[in-house]
Amino acid sequence: MEELRLGPVVGLGTWNTFGGDDELAGDVVQAAWGAGTRVFDSSPMYGRAERSLAAALEGRREEAAVATKIWAPTVEQGMHQFAEQLDLFGRVEIEQVHNLVSWREHLGWLEEERTAGRAGLLGVTHYAPSAFGELGQALETRSFQTVQVPYNPYERESERRILPLAAELGVAVIVMRPLAEGELLDQVPEPEELEPLREFGVETWAQALLKWALSDQRVDVVIPATRTRA
Ligand SMILES: NC(=O)c1ccc[n+]([C@@H]2O[C@H](COP(=O)([O-])OP(=O)(O)OC[C@H]3O[C@@H](n4cnc5c(N)ncnc54)[C@H](OP(=O)(O)O)[C@@H]3O)[C@@H](O)[C@H]2O)c1
Repeated sequence: MEELRLGPVVGLGTWNTFGGDDELAGDVVQAAWGAGTRVFDSSPMYGRAERSLAAALEGRREEAAVATKIWAPTVEQGMHQFAEQLDLFGRVEIEQVHNLVSWREHLGWLEEERTAGRAGLLGVTHYAPSAFGELGQALETRSFQTVQVPYNPYERESERRILPLAAELGVAVIVMRPLAEGELLDQVPEPEELEPLREFGVETWAQALLKWALSDQRVDVVIPATRTRA
C-alpha cells in the first residue's frame, strides 16, 4: 500500500490542559501557531477542550488540521458527537475512534462521512499496550489511515507492536504522551549534555524528547500538551 506521510511535524494535544479555559487555549494555540504547529488533537472525552480549541482556531481554521475523536458506545451517540464537531469545526481532518470504543460499530458511518468529505482520514487510538492486539486488528481491516499510541523513552511498546504494522500498512502514526505526561521533564540534563544535539536544532530537553520520537521514520506527528502560554 502507498505510504501515507503526514509529517514529521509537531502538533498540539489538548487533554487535561485548556478544556474550559478559552483564554488559556487561545494563548497556547497562538504560541503553537507561531511556532508552526498546524495539527491539533482533541476529543469529546477532554471536557470542553473541543470548544476551546474551536474558539482558538477562529480565523485560522483553513490552515489547521483538526484531529479529534469519537468516544461513544453507540452509533447514535457517535453520530451526535460528530454533528457537534461539524458545528464547531466545519469538518474534521482526522477523525479517530477513541480508545477503540465500539470501533467495529462506528466504522460504517464514519466511512460514509469520509466519502461525503465531512471527515478526512480515519484513525484509531489507544493508550494501553494491553489493547495493542485489538488495535492491530483494527489496522488490519485497512479501513484506518492513522493510529495514535504513546511513544516516549519510558513507553516503548508501540515500537515493537504498532510501528512496524503501521509502516507495513502505510498507516500514519500520531504519538500521544511524547513527554510521558511531563514525567520525563522531571530530570532535565545539564545544558552541556544537550550540546551534541544543537546542530540538529535542539535547544531544550523537551525539544530533544520530541525529536527522539520524530526521528523514528515511522512516526508522523507528535502531540505534546502544555498550559504554558509562550
Ligand atoms: N495521556 C493519555 O492517555 C492520552 C490519551 C489519548 C490521547 N492523548 C493526547 O496526547 C496529548 C499529549 O499527551 P499528554 O498531554 O498526556 O502528555 P505529554 O504531552 O507527554 O505531557 C504533557 C505535560 O508535559 C509538560 N510540558 C509540555 N511541554 C513542556 C516543556 N517544554 N517543558 C516542560 N514541560 C512541558 C506539560 O506541563 P506544562 O503545562 O507545565 O507545560 C504537561 O504536564 C494529549 O493532550 C491528548 O491530546 C493523551
